[in-house]
Amino acid sequence: MNDPSQFVESAIARLRAEVPGNAIVAASGGIDSTVAAVLAQRALGPRARAIFVDTGLLRQGEVETVSALFREAHLEFEVVPAADRFLGSLEGVVDPEEKRRRIGSAFIRLFEAEAARHATDRLIQGTIAPDWIESGGSIRDTIKTHHNVGGIPPDSKLRLVEPLRDLYKDEVRAVATFLGVPSPERQPFPGPGLAVRVVGPVQADRVRRARIANAIVEEEIERAVGEQLLDRPWQYFAVLLPVRTVGVLGDNRVHGEAVSVRVVESLDAMTATAAEIPRIVLARIAERITRALHGEVVRVLYDISDKPPATIEWE
Ligand code: XMP
Repeated sequence: MNDPSQFVESAIARLRAEVPGNAIVAASGGIDSTVAAVLAQRALGPRARAIFVDTGLLRQGEVETVSALFREAHLEFEVVPAADRFLGSLEGVVDPEEKRRRIGSAFIRLFEAEAARHATDRLIQGTIAPDWIESGGSIRDTIKTHHNVGGIPPDSKLRLVEPLRDLYKDEVRAVATFLGVPSPERQPFPGPGLAVRVVGPVQADRVRRARIANAIVEEEIERAVGEQLLDRPWQYFAVLLPVRTVGVLGDNRVHGEAVSVRVVESLDAMTATAAEIPRIVLARIAERITRALHGEVVRVLYDISDKPPATIEWE
């Protein structure tokens, strides 16, 4: 890409050629799909409907944050509540790749229904070059399946439209700036959401624990960044572990779960190092998580593994 204005002009022309009628846009709140959605609405006007799915696996406050971002980008959008559908599709599933497959197909089925509701078969996605290069399989077949790429099964009537397919992240940022789409420094968040941060079975109460613990880690790391106790790390989050471990509440021994705190430095997520976190910050995190999840989480661990051999997420 040479220049964002030329890219925007040609992307709009291509979208108009590829989408004769209506289209839906899968908008996750990430920069890529937000730019794709804004381009689609510039090209197609109200014929393009941006859809944000509340999977029930989102972070605390995410629906509000993403809605505010879309409003700032002057995007018309709909929030589709689908927590029951996603949690239902994960019942009895513990295998991480199976979780991704179930979530991927729940997304597809939901987008099929939304497409039918808007009388179209076109699904616009914000896929960028590294997504499909990483999902290619041949080079790195151990990489985790990304739900948003290559996930359209042969029996689906949906036809993908990917206006950003050939762009790299810095190019998407340049296009975002050109289009007036805010691109705040946000840490990466996996497409399957908290499902891969709840190790083991994904049940509503375990998702709630993971969501609360994640929010506390984010708040305390951001507070520590504000206090200049550390530089903003690449990624920081909490993972709920499926162990029954012993704690004390008053005079009683109780059984609760454990939370692992993960903070990593990285350049491109291909390799990562566990960040060195001041003891005071870890203590605040542990105290707040065990207080907020009184008796439910009785132990907080700090994960000191680098990638490789560990991955960034636990699943
Ligand atoms: P791993 O755990 O493989 O993660 O070291 C590398 C980066 O990718 C994110 N990640 C995902 N992103 N769908 C996504 O869109 C996924 O299934 C997925 N799994 C991991 C992870 O948060 C990290 O930034």
